[in-house]
Amino acid sequence: MTKKKQDSLAFYRYDDNHPFASMYPLLARQIVEDLGISRGRCLDIGTGGAPLLIELGKITNCELSGLDINPEALALAAQNARSHGLPEGRCTFLEGDVHAMPLPDDYARLVVSRGSIPFWDDYVVAFREIYRVLQPGGLSFVGGGFSRFQSLEEANRMRPDWARKDNPDKRARWLRREFLAEALAPLAQADWRIIEDGYGTWVVMSKPALTSISAGDSKGVPHAMPEL
Ligand SMILES: C[S@@+](CC[C@H](N)C(=O)[O-])C[C@H]1O[C@@H](n2cnc3c(N)ncnc32)[C@H](O)[C@@H]1O
Repeated sequence: MTKKKQDSLAFYRYDDNHPFASMYPLLARQIVEDLGISRGRCLDIGTGGAPLLIELGKITNCELSGLDINPEALALAAQNARSHGLPEGRCTFLEGDVHAMPLPDDYARLVVSRGSIPFWDDYVVAFREIYRVLQPGGLSFVGGGFSRFQSLEEANRMRPDWARKDNPDKRARWLRREFLAEALAPLAQADWRIIEDGYGTWVVMSKPALTSISAGDSKGVPHAMPEL
C-alpha cells in the first residue's frame, strides 16, 4: 500500500488521534439542538469513518445509516462504530454514490453530510437525490466545516488551505452562495437556507410534511425549517 493511501485510510479511523476528534461531538450537538431531531432514521452521506454519525448516535435515539462511495472507508466506519460502543443492529453502512443513492424515497428523517460536498460532480442531481430520500417533514444539514460550539481559533486551525471561497480550486466552487442557490433552485417544493457562520457553509433543507401527518403523530413529527 502506498504512503498516500495509508494516510487517507488513517483519516477514516475515528479515535482520539483523529485531527478533528474534538469537533465531531460539538457538531453533532449543534445539529441536534438546531434541527430538533433526535429519533427516526439518520442518514450520513459521504460518511467516511462515520465520526459524525457515531456522535449523533450517542446523543439521539436515531437509527443510523452511513453511505459512502468508498468501501474501504465503510469497513473502518463499522469498526469505529463498534469501538465507540454502538450496537451493530443500530448502524447500517452501505456503498453508494450521492448522485444515485441505492435507497428508497422518504428514507430518513434527518440527512447529514459533512466534508463530502467538495467531491461531488453534479450538484443539481445530488440535491435532488437528498430531497428524494428525505422524509416529508424531515430536515437535512449538508456542507462542510466545523462547529460554532468550538472557538473560531480552533476551527481556523483545523481548516484545510483549499477551503476558501476565493480559491480557484474546483473543490471550492460549492462555497459560493450563488452556486448553491442555482443547484437548489429546481427543488420547487423544498424550503432551504444557506448558513455561512465563519465556521462552515451548510445547506439546511426541509421537505414539506404530508398534510395527513399531524403534529405529534408517533410516526413522524413534522420539522419545520428551524430559526437559524
Ligand atoms: C473528507 S471525507 C469526509 C468524511 C466524513 N463525513 C467526515 O466528516 O470526516 C469525504 C467523504 O466523501 C466520500 N465521497 C466522495 N464522493 C462521494 C459521492 N459521490 N458519493 C458518496 N460519497 C462520496 C468520500 O469517499 C469520503 O469518505
